Amino acid sequence: MREFKILTVVLFFTALIYWGVEPFAHSQMHPHVAPADFDFAKGDIAYAKEVIHKAQTDQATAEESLKKLQQSLSERLKIEEAQKAVDSSKKVLAIAQEELVKITSFWKELEPARQMKGSATKGAETFMSAGCIGCHGVKSQGMAAPMDNASASVAFGVVPPDLSNAGLLYDKSYLIALIKEPTRALKVEHKFNETKPHPMIAFFGLGGDINQEIADIVAYLQSIAPKELDAKQTFEDACQRCHDIKYDKVLSNSNQDALKAYMGTTPPDLSMMIRAKSKDYLSTFINNPQKQLAGTSMPRVGLTEVSQNKVVAYMEKVGDRKKAERDDLGYKLIAYMALFTLLAYLWKVKIWRKVH
Ligand code: HEC
Ligand code: HEC
Repeated sequence: MREFKILTVVLFFTALIYWGVEPFAHSQMHPHVAPADFDFAKGDIAYAKEVIHKAQTDQATAEESLKKLQQSLSERLKIEEAQKAVDSSKKVLAIAQEELVKITSFWKELEPARQMKGSATKGAETFMSAGCIGCHGVKSQGMAAPMDNASASVAFGVVPPDLSNAGLLYDKSYLIALIKEPTRALKVEHKFNETKPHPMIAFFGLGGDINQEIADIVAYLQSIAPKELDAKQTFEDACQRCHDIKYDKVLSNSNQDALKAYMGTTPPDLSMMIRAKSKDYLSTFINNPQKQLAGTSMPRVGLTEVSQNKVVAYMEKVGDRKKAERDDLGYKLIAYMALFTLLAYLWKVKIWRKVH
């Protein structure tokens, strides 16, 4: 019986560490963020609310510490600073509230386009007139990129991706938003504005119903896209214009100096990133980098859930080759330990039988 008591205590503490301490430590290192939302409208609105909530909490904290300072005589000198913190927290909150209004009306305006069934045949014409091929190639349709990589890097800061696979890779709602207002869809409003415009020009319509025109362009992109892409190709299409995966000899096709000037920093090599940041982090980061790294210059990449999982799977394959082997070995090891625990117990019972 004593053994069982000891076992219970050991199990209790193991469980406490596994389900209690470890998740708590993890949540402190990586603050909890809402999971990726592949309904981009809902996700954006929820995120705007999350930012407001955080701003409100920050304001309350700032006001609280101001109040404390005002009550104590010795801390008078710090009051001015605390007052500034309160003022700036109010500004942050006001901006966050404004953003919620803007993002809500942005998606509301696009609702008709999201509901419409676009026509791929009409979309082919609209696509040609919309000017997309002034910057992007569509190799599968025999349209080469209008500039070589070096000139494109200088012109845009980054090589605009080929659009042959865009209809498969990117979510429909996301594409609609991107065509209408790239800065907003890519979540880089903090970096680009009217005086410093984003290199991808917004589509202003050809004179007809703009919602219909956008829906047609997206239907066209979907109609020319392949049915499937493997994990590596998905990564190359979605991330390679900025990131290297040197361990798999994948190198960014953009000029590195131009890219650094455009992004403000050189995008890191992603060979081992899966280990540094975990699968969990990546799954929310790609869908909305601002959630994890507020203010980052990396644009959102609006992949569908399937494509995003492929990108992560590819990064796992390169960065953590032994994972499958490790998982498999883990089960075998546990089975081995269990078996030997049983044998040790039986042996003990046998030896002590005469004494008891
Ligand atoms: C003036 C040049 C220009 C025009 C016109 C343009 N784009 Fe782009 N596009 C870019 C650049 C540059 C990028 C890469 C931006 C970045 O990664 O920061 C891009 C990125 C994209 C992406 C990838 C988005 C992502 O999430 O990674 C898609 C899809 C796309 N464009 C589609 C289109 C479509 C469709 C049109 C026509 C309606 C179009 N573009 C018109 C320059 C352009
Ligand atoms: C237009 C360029 C661009 C594209 C496209 C892009 N990234 Fe990035 N990425 C960046 C930049 C710049 C940084 C550095 C951000 C920073 O330090 O704020 C970055 C950082 C990262 C990080 C590190 C985040 C961290 O917490 O330090 C990861 C992971 C990442 N990118 C993954 C991806 C994946 C996966 C894709 C494709 C789905 C992708 N990126 C597409 C520019 C890009």
